[in-house]
Amino acid sequence: MKTDIGIIGMGVMGQNLALNMASKGYGVSVYNRRENRTREFAENKAKKKDIIPTYDLAEFVKSLDKPKKILLMIKAGSPVDEVIAKLTPLLDEGDVILDGGNSNFRDTDRRVEEANSRGLLYLGTGISGGEYGARHGPSIMPGGNEEAYDLVGNLLEDIAAQIPEGPCCAYLGPRSAGHYVKMVHNGIEYGVMESIAEAYWLMNKGLNMEPEDMSSTFEKWNEDLDSYLMEITVSVLKEEDEKTGKPLINLILDTAEQKGTGKWTVQNALELGVPVPTISAAVDGRFISSRKRERKNNSDKIFLEKPARLTGKSNWTEKIHDALYLSTVSAYTQGIYLLNVASSEYEYDLNLDEVARIWKDGCIIRSNLLDEAQKGLRNDPENPNLLFVEPFLSNVKDKSVSTREILSRGRKAGLALPAISSSLDYLVEFSSAYLPANMIQAQRDFFGAHTYQRRDREGYFHNEWLDDN
Ligand code: 6PG
Repeated sequence: MKTDIGIIGMGVMGQNLALNMASKGYGVSVYNRRENRTREFAENKAKKKDIIPTYDLAEFVKSLDKPKKILLMIKAGSPVDEVIAKLTPLLDEGDVILDGGNSNFRDTDRRVEEANSRGLLYLGTGISGGEYGARHGPSIMPGGNEEAYDLVGNLLEDIAAQIPEGPCCAYLGPRSAGHYVKMVHNGIEYGVMESIAEAYWLMNKGLNMEPEDMSSTFEKWNEDLDSYLMEITVSVLKEEDEKTGKPLINLILDTAEQKGTGKWTVQNALELGVPVPTISAAVDGRFISSRKRERKNNSDKIFLEKPARLTGKSNWTEKIHDALYLSTVSAYTQGIYLLNVASSEYEYDLNLDEVARIWKDGCIIRSNLLDEAQKGLRNDPENPNLLFVEPFLSNVKDKSVSTREILSRGRKAGLALPAISSSLDYLVEFSSAYLPANMIQAQRDFFGAHTYQRRDREGYFHNEWLDDN
């Protein structure tokens, strides 16, 4: 009996996807470069399941039903090319390779072309949801050859998270469309995480709140939002260190790491000229946090006073909530704006409503804000900036006043709040009929005769700024 699909890579994601597929009635062959991983998996979690362990690539390929479908769940980068190179000679025309890792979309573009030139089909498939999602239903973002989706779409839809509107999986578009959408998903993830971290900071440093109180505050806020990232924040703040009994959050070193998808989002946004300041602040925030020694050395050079508390009579937690809302919505809307531009630039022809739908469950950025995003996309499909479309518009307008207030007080208290600040600036800049860019144009014309346009007359002008006499 041949199996329906093969998975290469028995890391946490690969194993859990195999278990998920088997639980949905699919036969799965599995292979891992290091044998002992496969053996351990076969003897424990995969025992008595329709999961066939294999120990060399030829045996693995032979065990698959035709056309063969192979999902790579390996580290992004050169390992993907290495496995494809070994796999390709063993495959036949019409076989399908799916890359389920966080591959860079440019690599996926190249790999689709290479696979197609050898008669193979290719799907760059973003998969979100971590270990739990992989086992119980992730959000799946496939892009590439549509014929490949015809062959494997049913399986992907069966193992994805399910919501009333259908499975959280849909064919998104040609070439790297799937991995591009996953990259932006992660960019939004970075922006939301940094925004939550700043809200935590305001409560912790500004209001002297204990982890337990902050946990209940986030829990209350999440009643409306139903955000996964907020939900895990509630649990994080409740967790106690086993050894010391202290809140674990207070013992975790303040240096954030990253694997690259957030940075790629910002890099590509720069390339396309789309501002994503909230996401960018989150990426920079991680970089600065990782330079701990430098920060420590500088810590008494400029600001000699310790951060002060937020004082005075005011409902600060409510204001922090508003700022967090504004910053979170900014991260989502900036990501969607980027998708909008990339969709036409790269001819992905993305259905953004469908992207928002498949993010509603299974993935890391799932939250009720995606319902709102869908409403916004339907209310004004021509407007790329959902901050200025209902239902976000009224909420953001309402919350912008308290965000200004908490920001100025937070700064006075000596706290750095890069994501919330960037979000507010973005909102202010995009709502300003006038910006100081007239000065930039004047300077450009001054030193480089780059010309400028005028408010009072049509055309391009150059001024003789220097009096040569
Ligand atoms: C997901 C996540 C996942 C990502 C981690 C870590 O959607 O399941 O985005 O793909 O790898 O969140 O990312 P960083 O190491 O860059 O923080």
